[in-house]
Amino acid sequence: MSDVATIRSTSGTGVIRVLKADEQHLLRDHLLRLEPESRHDRFNGGISEEFLRSYAARSFENGAIVIAYLQDGVVRGAAELHGPEQSLDGEPEIAFSVETRIRRQGVGSALFEQLLEEAQRKGYTRLRITTGGQNEAMKALANKFGAHLSFRRGEATGTVDLSRSAALVTKPAPRATAPLSVVMARDVMRANQAMWGHVLRFYAGLLDGSQRMGTR
Ligand SMILES: CC(C)(COP(=O)(O)OP(=O)(O)OC[C@H]1O[C@@H](n2cnc3c(N)ncnc32)[C@H](O)[C@@H]1OP(=O)(O)O)[C@@H](O)C(=O)NCCC(=O)NCCS
Repeated sequence: MSDVATIRSTSGTGVIRVLKADEQHLLRDHLLRLEPESRHDRFNGGISEEFLRSYAARSFENGAIVIAYLQDGVVRGAAELHGPEQSLDGEPEIAFSVETRIRRQGVGSALFEQLLEEAQRKGYTRLRITTGGQNEAMKALANKFGAHLSFRRGEATGTVDLSRSAALVTKPAPRATAPLSVVMARDVMRANQAMWGHVLRFYAGLLDGSQRMGTR
């Protein structure tokens, strides 16, 4: 995959693309930059630097697909797709991480969209996310794509049902845009307003003319 999207954030412009086999160090350095709370949300536990180093290397060795958001060649966000052969129950697993200073600017959404496309291309129907049930950011991100994360008490696993996400991937909902039905209704209302405006002005003109004629 060459660059698939360009995103502007407060800290600059970046691109989204799949990392190549010899770029595992870029993922490693990104994960090492995550502060403890983010590491906890990402891996659902306290994680050491040593673990992160071997995790990045292992992910690439095992054939994970890593879609990254890069600014000036530095990975600032990543979406990982780990194949079903890597999990005990045969379900592919996904994970997301965006560095704190560029969060809530659409990077996670852009990564999610690309990852779902990749997963659909591979024919996966369900994906698993492991995180805490209190992770509001991840829940909001998944919801945005029609993916429901369900967490049973004490469990840290959510499932993304791709059949529910498909429509949104092929046609993502634009931010803060009214639904089409609302747009159409609004346009009809404006047309009506314009038409009645003309009619009223016409009759007002007639009335005004006849009054002026009457005062002569
Ligand atoms: C989850 C994460 C990847 C989201 O990345 P992001 O770049 O901030 O995501 P976006 O900016 O695209 O936001 C997506 C949606 O979630 C919402 N959102 C983001 N953070 C939120 C939060 N803390 N609380 C509530 N909603 C939140 C946004 O408002 C946005 O919704 P909108 O488009 O309708 O406004 C990021 O918070 C992160 O890296 N967290 C730490 C690691 C982690 O928890 N990974 C998930 C487990 S694998």
